[in-house]
Amino acid sequence: MDYQALLERIHGELASRLGEGQVASYIPELARVAPDRFGIALRTPDGGLYTVGDAEEKFSVQSISKLFTLTLAMRLVGDELWARCGREPSGTSFNSLVQLESEGGIPRNPFINAGALVVSDLILSRLDDAKASVLEFVRELAGSDDIHFDEAVAASEAAHGHRNAAMAHFMKSFGNLENPADRVLDAYFHHCSLSMSCVQVANAGLFLANGGLHPTTGEAVVSVNQKKYLNSMMVTCGTYDAVGEFAYRVGLPAKSGVGGGIVATMPRTFSVCVWSPGLDKQGNSVLGALALERLTTYSAQSIF
Ligand code: DON
Repeated sequence: MDYQALLERIHGELASRLGEGQVASYIPELARVAPDRFGIALRTPDGGLYTVGDAEEKFSVQSISKLFTLTLAMRLVGDELWARCGREPSGTSFNSLVQLESEGGIPRNPFINAGALVVSDLILSRLDDAKASVLEFVRELAGSDDIHFDEAVAASEAAHGHRNAAMAHFMKSFGNLENPADRVLDAYFHHCSLSMSCVQVANAGLFLANGGLHPTTGEAVVSVNQKKYLNSMMVTCGTYDAVGEFAYRVGLPAKSGVGGGIVATMPRTFSVCVWSPGLDKQGNSVLGALALERLTTYSAQSIF
């Protein structure tokens, strides 16, 4: 498969549409990003790297971090997580509060904000310096030390993250947070603020397309079963209340973020990250989803 030619074709086709969608503005710091940015990086387990556009430019990974923190939590506590968090699509927006009350403070899945707050709480309880450990883990996955929290983004979200604060305190009232809500929120906002390029995110997701093994060291990041769980969770919950449409159009396990990034994996074949800041109303990148749809359609490669 000539991935470079494929990415260039897609980039060319979408060039006239750069800037489509709405850049996230509910976290003011995110609204500063130029809407016409667009990049793709595709990595293959044998070391291949194919890029177009702004693939080396850093962006705010936001909810893509939920994939990395879930992976770390699975390593730390395994199936214990599922006593405190479900694994069904929510059918509601990623920051919705409505299900939490009727479902006793147990979030539907780890990829909505409430679920990621529980995951952040688990990590906080088990690691001495949890924020530093998450950063270290993501750097190891990506094979790059040039990955940092963006303190301005974390502070901007802390100042405006009233819904997340409501969720955290609500879950605390149900006994589903072990740590003080403010500590959990601080950890969560920092995870979301990670600043990475498409190349770094594609690297970090490659273990999911490589049998759970780190592509460079060959060590198991997660077990083969956990790799299955993570990919399944991406298919069913990775793009919020657009998962059905996304699975139909793209047909790959994927995780999106309101920074405009989407990471997707094709088992045994590739990991890809697309970035374009303009979002649809569910919070997924408009051109990112379109680029992935074209990638799987033109290459005839999808999990289905
Ligand atoms: O908690 C929030 O609202 C953001 N830090 C992350 C949301 C996000 O990326 C959801 N994605 N589509």
